[in-house]
Amino acid sequence: MKRLSLALLGMAVSLCLWGETPLYLDSSASIEQRIDDALSRMTIREKVNMLHAQSKFSSAGVPRLGIPEFWTTDGPHGIRPEVLWDEWDQAGWTNDSCTAFPALTCLAATWNPEVSYLYGKSIGEEARYRKKDILLGPGVNIYRTPLNGRNFEYMGEDPYLASQMVVPYIQGVQSNGVAACVKHFALNNHEVNRHTTNVIVDERALHEIYLPAFKAAVEKGNAWSIMGSYNLYRDQHVCHNEYLLNDMLKRDWAFDGVVVSDWGGTHNTEQAITNGLDMEFGSWTNGLSAGASNAYDNYYLADPYIERLATGAADENVLNDKVRRVLRLAFRTNMNTNRPFGSLCSPEHSAAAREIGREGIVLLKNDGKVLPIRSEKGMKVAVIGENAIKMMTVGGGSSSLKARYEISPLDGLRKAFGDKVELVYARGYVGDPSGEYNGVTSGQDLSDSRSAAELLAEAIDVSRNADVVIFVGGLNKSAGQDCEDSDRASLELPYGQNELIEALAAVNPRLVFVNVSGNAVAMPWIKKVPAVVQAWYLGSEAGNAIADVITGQYNPSGKLPMTFPASLSQVGAHCFGNYLGEKRENENIYDCTYNEGIFVGYRWIDKHKEKPLFPFGHGLSYTTFAYGKPSASAKRMDAAGTLTVSVPVTNTGDVDGSETVQLYITDVKSSLPRPEKELKGFRKVKLAPGETQNVEFTILPEHLAFYSPEAGSMVTEQGKFRVKIGASSGDIRGEVEFEFVDNAIAVR
Ligand code: BGC
Repeated sequence: MKRLSLALLGMAVSLCLWGETPLYLDSSASIEQRIDDALSRMTIREKVNMLHAQSKFSSAGVPRLGIPEFWTTDGPHGIRPEVLWDEWDQAGWTNDSCTAFPALTCLAATWNPEVSYLYGKSIGEEARYRKKDILLGPGVNIYRTPLNGRNFEYMGEDPYLASQMVVPYIQGVQSNGVAACVKHFALNNHEVNRHTTNVIVDERALHEIYLPAFKAAVEKGNAWSIMGSYNLYRDQHVCHNEYLLNDMLKRDWAFDGVVVSDWGGTHNTEQAITNGLDMEFGSWTNGLSAGASNAYDNYYLADPYIERLATGAADENVLNDKVRRVLRLAFRTNMNTNRPFGSLCSPEHSAAAREIGREGIVLLKNDGKVLPIRSEKGMKVAVIGENAIKMMTVGGGSSSLKARYEISPLDGLRKAFGDKVELVYARGYVGDPSGEYNGVTSGQDLSDSRSAAELLAEAIDVSRNADVVIFVGGLNKSAGQDCEDSDRASLELPYGQNELIEALAAVNPRLVFVNVSGNAVAMPWIKKVPAVVQAWYLGSEAGNAIADVITGQYNPSGKLPMTFPASLSQVGAHCFGNYLGEKRENENIYDCTYNEGIFVGYRWIDKHKEKPLFPFGHGLSYTTFAYGKPSASAKRMDAAGTLTVSVPVTNTGDVDGSETVQLYITDVKSSLPRPEKELKGFRKVKLAPGETQNVEFTILPEHLAFYSPEAGSMVTEQGKFRVKIGASSGDIRGEVEFEFVDNAIAVR
């Protein structure tokens, strides 16, 4: 009896101590109710503490209330290794290596939204396992110039393609309870002077070219966070930009997530408070150069914010809006008790990396069917080039990784060809011998003391008697190539590769050029080289994916997500003087006018009737496809209607293959100038030899729209439209016309 009463007393005491579960911790309550409750319990200091970094990659939660810290990570191709609390230097962990997935340019080249979901889900699982809440990616800045050092982290030149591909990536990441942070919003289209470039772009180009992928990320992908970019727009840094963040993102697109600054992209407390920034990161690195005991207290959204709140200079409602967003992020991520646990470096992730990689590889040219190379007994294959052996997951800036493993093209080819083939390797040239980025080493030392002439002689020697020569070259991830914080100096291949390729072609006509890059390169020797493969940066499984395509183990189906121009004179951004803009007198700001307006990529090529090296959307297969005549379900369409366009496509070769059928739309007559055609649909179909499929597309009024500065919205005008069905933007196979009968309707 005594024991029982003691037990009852104990229960009563603990009930008093613990009370009922507070609403914000009750996962059966709605997120908005939980936010209200948490907010009502927080002090001003606790609120402000959630709005800025507490270390290089984390921000504080509310320790008193059990709300966890946020951990961010790069992004977008794998989970970045751990750095020190206050610095970029490596923390030296031994369990922070990851699966390196192919670069986003490769993902875009698959033209396959299902593969994009697989990518997002897989990288999200790695982020989750590594206890990260926000993945800093994907990137969807439009490919305006092939010189941009960061194009490899983005999804190409076309707003429709990038929009279709970014949404599933976000959904896949976020299915893990990890937020995608879509970057770099917006107009960060080159790297040189990235903190001091003020972009001047007309409204049409802004809405038709540069914003749609971000809009899709928000409205269709429901991205939980967005990263502001470094540059300025309308003379304001974009991390605190009234028009882009308040008016566009938060008001017009109803974004309910968090705006995260790029690291060091915040410059001003007033603007950071009022112009839409929610979380400030990376403003400075340590407590020595710019801060006191805790540098983070001096961030723009830290003590200076508290001071303004204390004097009434800052409005507490604005503060609460920011904190609500951050709490919403918490309930979606680190306070979501239902989120899965993730996984790291699993066989499934390796398989995903290989699948994405080989599906994104683009067969650009294959005269005389040099490819695929099937191994035969006694066959001699010469592999030439630094990129056949160079690890590419280390380098390139913030996307640099510490991959658990990386299979080089040479190792992949060796394994695929097996013992019956004699495979010889010669380096051919020395490009970037270093194997280190930011303290992570690839373990490779590629220094070579031989002269260029000796390297060339060796390459020629091994190629002369080979049955086939595979030259693996291109760019790499060092500064001035495909690398953050710098742009390329020219479209040309570096390190004397053009001369080397010419010399190889002269001794062996069976030459395959495998271009490892995130950008278009010039190919002045193209007529002399029968086979060209675009292999991007493919991550851990690079060598296997390349070998799968080269040997025909996998039939290529990638298509270019950007134009390969023959020269920079075919790129709008380079046709009006310096693409970097002009420096202001007495001010460290570069005004950069996007003079080409909406005519970016193939839109410029079409307008000026240029013949590019390879057009946007181009990519071959080891089989061939015949397109029948396209037909439309009706001759007329109105604002409430839709139209179905179908086209029969047949595999006319003798192996299975996949074709991405592309649909472009031409507005025959419009009140404002429009591109000759615009991508508004694509479908990837897999066909067995002899098989025919009827490929169907649905056309909606929004596919006919352009931005009207007068109306301040996207509008569709009545009149004739031409649907063009093609295998690329340069290879239209059929057309069908219809009429849109409603006038000037605004579409969202
Ligand atoms: C890059 C971002 C990156 C961040 C954190 C910045 O320099 O622009 O893309 O996510 O650093 O590493």
